[in-house]
Amino acid sequence: MSAVDGNGNGSLSLEGRASIAHVTDAWYVLSSSEELRDRPLARTLLGSPLVLFREAGGSPAALLDRCAHRNVPLSLGRVTSDCRLECPYHGWQYDGRGDCKRIPGLLGSPELPRRAVASHAAIEQDGLVWVYATAGVEPDSAPYRLPALDKPGYTSVRRTVEVEATLHATIENALDVPHTAFLHKGLFRGAGKVNTVRAVITRDDHSVTTEYVGEPRPEGLVGKILSPSGGTVTHFDRFILPSIAQVEYAIGEENHILVTSLCTPVEDFRTRMVAVVTFRTRFPGWLIKPFIDPVAMRIFRQDAAILKRQTDAIRRFGGESYTSTEIDLMGPQILRLLRRAERGKGAKEGDDEYRREVDLEV
Ligand code: FES
Ligand SMILES: [Fe+2]
Repeated sequence: MSAVDGNGNGSLSLEGRASIAHVTDAWYVLSSSEELRDRPLARTLLGSPLVLFREAGGSPAALLDRCAHRNVPLSLGRVTSDCRLECPYHGWQYDGRGDCKRIPGLLGSPELPRRAVASHAAIEQDGLVWVYATAGVEPDSAPYRLPALDKPGYTSVRRTVEVEATLHATIENALDVPHTAFLHKGLFRGAGKVNTVRAVITRDDHSVTTEYVGEPRPEGLVGKILSPSGGTVTHFDRFILPSIAQVEYAIGEENHILVTSLCTPVEDFRTRMVAVVTFRTRFPGWLIKPFIDPVAMRIFRQDAAILKRQTDAIRRFGGESYTSTEIDLMGPQILRLLRRAERGKGAKEGDDEYRREVDLEV
């Protein structure tokens, strides 16, 4: 693509100049359980077209969305009564491993390695379909387990949204505290007096955590619903490789809220996010549920709009030109872990432990 640089001239390629990470040794959420029924479902993961369907017995399968014969997308076909994926052109049929099981009109066995399509490991867990990003491997890890989902007293709300931004920008946004008082002023923070809190940032080989110490209850709408009487807050923000952003709040004994955003890099500048809000409050869950959705969606729309503007500018200028301060707590650390994970298993730099304390106003 052609673009201008920071001085308003030149033609630059975007490659290598944006925080784009392709972590392929990893599980990503590709659909909810309800979305995957008796029809093939087209999805894109890291720019690669995939098709999901249910095998015999109902377990999910994921194949490259390209018929081995003449490359028609298999997602345009159908799932047969014996749970094979059938191409809509000449009717080749595939099983969940991608092996060709039937070729209409062909005498003799249809099954040959060159007639197979690549398959990805797929697992259904917590009402979600997870797919491993590298084809043809048996993963030695399991997908992330959503915490507190089945705990007594907890209620969950989930929403799937898409953002026109890199995975890194999306996750940074989900875990970035300073913008909440500004972009979301009044909704979450920024409605009352300013407080100085201490942030303790730690990083290990698969996660980055920020703990906020001495944070008063946010003055905005969400805080007021949760704890009208105020009080101090326990607050953790976490990034978990490869693509999970989690915000955890506890206010007093009764109120506990976890917002877990399971992100999927669809394309370099498109990220899908399943946001799962799991909470226990002093009110019954059914009473709180209707309040969470509109507030969360309003916050999300503001984030999605600003992230799109960020992406537009990065594209127009042909790359990122970021400057961070010490209150950009998570973004640089997240990128560091993503870059390391991108290089594959066992990539170590000898600096796995990291800890820093920063005071900031919220
Ligand atoms: S293109 Fe799929 S069967 Fe021919
Ligand atoms: Fe936000």
